[in-house]
Amino acid sequence: MSTLTTPLPGGTWTLGDLSVTRFGYGAMQLAGPGVMGPPADRDGALAVLRRAVDLGITHIDTSDAYGPGITNELIREALHPYPESLHVMTKVGAHRDEQGGWPPARRPDELRRAVHDNLDGLGVDVLDLVNLRLGNAEGPQEGSIAEAFETLVELQEEGLVRHLGLSNATTEQVAEARAIAPIVCVQNMYNLAHRHDDELIDALAGAGIAYVPFFPLGGFSPLQSAELSAVAARLSATPMSVALAWLLHRSPNILLIPGTSSVAHLRENLAGAGLRLTAADLAELDRIGR
Ligand SMILES: NC(=O)c1ccc[n+]([C@@H]2O[C@H](COP(=O)([O-])OP(=O)(O)OC[C@H]3O[C@@H](n4cnc5c(N)ncnc54)[C@H](OP(=O)(O)O)[C@@H]3O)[C@@H](O)[C@H]2O)c1
Repeated sequence: MSTLTTPLPGGTWTLGDLSVTRFGYGAMQLAGPGVMGPPADRDGALAVLRRAVDLGITHIDTSDAYGPGITNELIREALHPYPESLHVMTKVGAHRDEQGGWPPARRPDELRRAVHDNLDGLGVDVLDLVNLRLGNAEGPQEGSIAEAFETLVELQEEGLVRHLGLSNATTEQVAEARAIAPIVCVQNMYNLAHRHDDELIDALAGAGIAYVPFFPLGGFSPLQSAELSAVAARLSATPMSVALAWLLHRSPNILLIPGTSSVAHLRENLAGAGLRLTAADLAELDRIGR
């Protein structure tokens, strides 16, 4: 496996002591339908992971809840032993029920088990980054996270986790966590059409904390908008590329984890995310989420 040295769109960002490409890869949808069970095309899934690293991507987002266990298994099979430059970011705080739901699993014993499941699944002694996944499938929910976050801090002190982050979190929960221990990122839903976190992104940028939008392309319902299509047509680019380029322009602390099960889409997204958007393009795109 050769790793290209060409800079990727957006350059790099430092998460604690880890340098990562701002353009990463989100592995969730590599599992079967509904993020349950194995993929229909296992070799294809392995090929996408290998190609992502080959193209120079140095961070992959996952969770033991994907599959469950399937996505981590694919990452391990495709990429273990991991290149030193590659950092796999995972999440704990939800498990899967038989209907494919995502019930919370944030008791201390559940979080400990989830960290060990991720260590075993990925085949590592230390997890580079663990996000505490909060809220539910509808979004963030208010409430104290102290007990759960303190459990992750204990696991960090035990040397099983390098860095901590939050996912699906409210602004108050971000502040509560930061009063307990440093976090290096927040992973929340955000894209051109879903802009609830605009203020949080700016505040985190000021604090040197990364913001990692999940569903950057709209997730299970890919982004569709007349303004996006118009800008994309003008730039002779795809709407997905423009959506990713807009995120890279939006703030320097934004890291991308777009998902795809296709090598062709991976290449297209990577190439397109480097598009230069003019002030007029940005103003037109800005209207989508307002
Ligand atoms: N913290 C959380 O609670 C949470 C929740 C959801 C997701 N996440 C993370 O966020 C990551 C990204 O989310 P996601 O993958 O669900 O959504 P996404 O990145 O917004 O979109 C992925 C979808 O876009 C399609 N796509 C990608 N490139 C395309 C292109 N060039 N042209 C047309 N379609 C394209 C993919 O289909 P193809 O496979 O056909 O390319 C896939 O259906 C996940 O992998 C996961 O790691 C976290």
